[in-house]
Amino acid sequence: MSIDTATITEAGRLLAAGQLVAFPTETVYGLGGDATNDHAVAAIFAAKGRPTFNPLIVHVARVEQAEDLVVVDPRARRLMARFWPGPLTLVLPRRPGSPVSLLASAGLDTIAIRLPDHAIARALIEAAGRPLAAPSANRSGGVSPTRAEHVDADLAALVLDGGPCRVGVESTVLDLSGDHPALLRPGGIPLEELERELGPLLRTENPTAPKSPGQLESHYAPGLPVRLDAEEPHPGEALLGFGPGAAELNLSPSGDVAEAAANLFAMLRALDRPGFSGIAVRPIPEHGLGLAINDRLRRAAAPRLQPPKHQPPKHQP
Ligand code: TXA
Ligand code: MG
Repeated sequence: MSIDTATITEAGRLLAAGQLVAFPTETVYGLGGDATNDHAVAAIFAAKGRPTFNPLIVHVARVEQAEDLVVVDPRARRLMARFWPGPLTLVLPRRPGSPVSLLASAGLDTIAIRLPDHAIARALIEAAGRPLAAPSANRSGGVSPTRAEHVDADLAALVLDGGPCRVGVESTVLDLSGDHPALLRPGGIPLEELERELGPLLRTENPTAPKSPGQLESHYAPGLPVRLDAEEPHPGEALLGFGPGAAELNLSPSGDVAEAAANLFAMLRALDRPGFSGIAVRPIPEHGLGLAINDRLRRAAAPRLQPPKHQPPKHQP
């Protein structure tokens, strides 16, 4: 761990007092607040400019801490033993008397919960002495930060620097609240690994039929238009490569989807600058972490809900 204990203690104190702290996880940096404090959770929504109907993931440091918050059935217990700590978020029934803020779960009777595979994240949760609600530490609609320097310092009272995130895409969200497990968001645990454990999953991550609001299209959009499955860039476009071949930047010259996931958000950020007319992305295979990468890229390429922030407004007639 690259952060001293005094800093962790101070960060824990800020969180216990209702302030926000940005912290590293193995997936992306999170904007953390006390998940049991409505005011802290409201501050997260306010800082992100996120519509409050979008529920947040609650982060715990130990499996026993999860059992105080949600109902853990044998199926959930098996997945926790196999994949925690790690990039798997489980949506489970809220436990009666659960101290988690109803605002954090957007009023739902379920809670999304995960135990991150990052020593700083777990030490922080322990220091705070409560579970932490934490979306990715970016303004709503922006690209998730995978390095401390990508976190906007205005969002939090403190940003803990844990270096680059190992996985680079958000956690896989699996809904275990119904009879049949359902994939709500592809992410850091490949679908294939979950299906080996559970059999075929329901797939509800289709952005045209969102079940959870985080499935909205254009959720991960850079400012420039994004074009997928590009073999060659059009004039003015930056090519984001995958596999061998010339490109402005390359997600993985060797064609490794895990390496590509770790590079995805940092490279989208690096190419999202004036001087290019758009970002063209080479095809990425739909296996392993490729599923999560393509999900994020399709959202980045989807028609925008709002005009991108750093482009000048259109002239009125
Ligand atoms: O890797 C990650 O999961 C990161 C790091 C910081 O842990 N966090 C993250 O949080 O990506 P966020 O808030 O950006 O995404 C939460 C996702 C959204 O798609 C949301 O709709 C879904 O989880 N979600 C949260 N609670 C839910 C619930 N009760 N039922 C269904 N979906 C839920
Ligand atoms: Mg996010």
